Amino acid sequence: MDAPERDPVAGVQAAVLRQLDLSTPSVARMYDYYLGGKDNFEVDRECADEVLRRAPLVPVVAQANRDFLRRAVRYLARECGIRQFLDIGTGLPTQDNVHQVAQRVDPRVRVVYVDNDPLVLIHAQALLANNPNTLALAGDLRQPWRILDDPHVRGVIDFREPVAVLLCGILHFIPDHDDPYGIVATLVHAMAPGSYLVVSHAERHRDLTPATGAYDRASSPVVLRSLVEIAGFLNGLEWVEPGVVYLPLWRPDRPMPTDRLRVPAYGGVGRKP
Ligand SMILES: C[S@@+](CC[C@H](N)C(=O)[O-])C[C@H]1O[C@@H](n2cnc3c(N)ncnc32)[C@H](O)[C@@H]1O
Repeated sequence: MDAPERDPVAGVQAAVLRQLDLSTPSVARMYDYYLGGKDNFEVDRECADEVLRRAPLVPVVAQANRDFLRRAVRYLARECGIRQFLDIGTGLPTQDNVHQVAQRVDPRVRVVYVDNDPLVLIHAQALLANNPNTLALAGDLRQPWRILDDPHVRGVIDFREPVAVLLCGILHFIPDHDDPYGIVATLVHAMAPGSYLVVSHAERHRDLTPATGAYDRASSPVVLRSLVEIAGFLNGLEWVEPGVVYLPLWRPDRPMPTDRLRVPAYGGVGRKP
């Protein structure tokens, strides 16, 4: 009798699960908790609850960020004809993930998800198992050249064609000493003219600053930045209207209660000329 075939995906997932660090709060799983997800553990909830005690607005920011990401992806696929997306700092799957939003516009849209959290990858690979135009792989934004040179990424994304690179809710996990502006410049340099960069980032604001200390014991510290600093990530690009604004103000698709408009986080989209 033939030996039973081993499932390579299950093998990889088991290996990744063994690497899961359950003693350190994960910023990906904390974000999942803010969004009402179930993919988080006691260690994450305990740290996230401390954040929420100090900054009760955080779930509103998280939801506004997700909504911004969805609107930006839909805009790029529908209005700008973008057919390939590189989403770095993917997060755990929730409603309306990037490939679902973009492939509703055109099922041929290709998406690569990159994250440095093992649980994100397990979930993304499971979600994408039957989707031939998508890929989820481990990578670190602090090493952008490794993402750009990865043969698996290059197998899906053709950098000679316009691409949208998504850096949503991730740059505030890159401290200045890791050179976030240099990282963005490396990515932009690799993008063809007509490509887009999408950035969202939490603001250095009195409603959020009391909570930053809690992140010091999480998988990544958090660095809040000012509007000028956040807009600086889109330097050299043509800003898509309305520019870099509070997240709910970026091309809203429905009326918003006014108390939900001033969310202390900015988003913007830039086009490479
Ligand atoms: C707040 S979530 C944002 C998820 C999604 N982009 C969104 O906007 O809804 C941040 C994600 O970035 C990932 N992340 C943080 N630092 C990273 C790094 N240096 N490289 C790759 N991913 C990172 C985390 O694991 C997490 O999944």
